[in-house]
Amino acid sequence: MMGGMKAVLCTHFGTANELELKDIPPPVAGPGEALVRVKAAALNFFDTLIIAGTYQQKPPFPFSPAAEFAGIVESVGAGVTDIAPGDRVMGYLGWGAAREYVAVAAQQLVKLPADLSLEHAAGLTVTYGTTLYALRERAALKPGETLVALGASGGTGLAAIELGKVLGARVIACASSDEKLAFARDHGADAVVNYASEDLRDALKKLGGEHGVDVVYDPVGGRYAEPAVRSLAWQGRYLVVGFAAGDIPKLPLNLVLLKSCDIRGVFWGAWTKREPRAQRALMTEIVTWCAQGKLSAHVHAVYPLAEIATALGAIADRKVMGKIVLRP
Ligand SMILES: NC(=O)c1ccc[n+]([C@@H]2O[C@H](COP(=O)([O-])OP(=O)(O)OC[C@H]3O[C@@H](n4cnc5c(N)ncnc54)[C@H](OP(=O)(O)O)[C@@H]3O)[C@@H](O)[C@H]2O)c1
Repeated sequence: MMGGMKAVLCTHFGTANELELKDIPPPVAGPGEALVRVKAAALNFFDTLIIAGTYQQKPPFPFSPAAEFAGIVESVGAGVTDIAPGDRVMGYLGWGAAREYVAVAAQQLVKLPADLSLEHAAGLTVTYGTTLYALRERAALKPGETLVALGASGGTGLAAIELGKVLGARVIACASSDEKLAFARDHGADAVVNYASEDLRDALKKLGGEHGVDVVYDPVGGRYAEPAVRSLAWQGRYLVVGFAAGDIPKLPLNLVLLKSCDIRGVFWGAWTKREPRAQRALMTEIVTWCAQGKLSAHVHAVYPLAEIATALGAIADRKVMGKIVLRP
């Protein structure tokens, strides 16, 4: 029998400093489940919201933040045949991965190639899963089209650059500093816009030319949404991914009429529940591309569980390029 395990616990909604690192009994793999030793748990922007009680999902207390992880299977419950102890896997929980062990439905785990590091794999599911679903299933992005990624150095934004290139698009990366834009170029962006120092509409007018831009991927919202929609081509598609800037933008609908364009919502988490098979197939593609070096899954920094407040602070302060990972 295993002893206790370390877990970051959120016992009430509040700030990251109010999270507690505790010893709790480890879970046991029930029927159809695998017990996984978490080697890396990745944080996302929404972890800053979920602990504050301002996210769309409000888990029962106490819960651990971190939606996704990678690790090694320790044991499996009754009826599990395709996953075995010792397998290297990654998975998605929604929340609960900032701890040493998790028990997960074995069907939800994705096996990892030997040459993909657990730290990189931990952060692949949410950002790349959301983005491939957004670009391919929602936007039907075609080779040769122009894709604009806002917040392009963040977790989802970097995924948009890299998956946009894999899908054959020309990618314009938009971010708030020259350092972030250099990072975007290093990861494949064809052109860049500093929306803190340049007018987004003017810059996209120049880069999009007379045609305009075909697809906008927007995880930021706020004041960038309207100029981005105004920059769309005839029958362009604007993807509503998130609102990291805090404000949920309102748009004049005449713009949608005048361009015969589409505003398309992206709710990846709900899609994974509606179409679990499609999600698994999509993740297998992503893992393969990552192992082939087509996706970087760039890790900005790795923190021990005890430093989760610093890790979440870096995300909230807009300092992160790529992903933040916890090492339990
Ligand atoms: N729809 C879905 O299914 C889905 C799935 C996953 C995530 N999301 C959402 O997508 C958004 C981005 O997530 P992420 O993990 O990519 O976040 P992230 O890594 O923190 O990146 C967010 C980017 O937003 C920009 N930003 C602008 N104003 C900001 C502010 N006030 N605070 C923080 N960042 C700000 C920053 O870039 P600049 O400094 O360059 O502006 C930052 O790089 C979140 O709202 C998240 O909830 C949605």
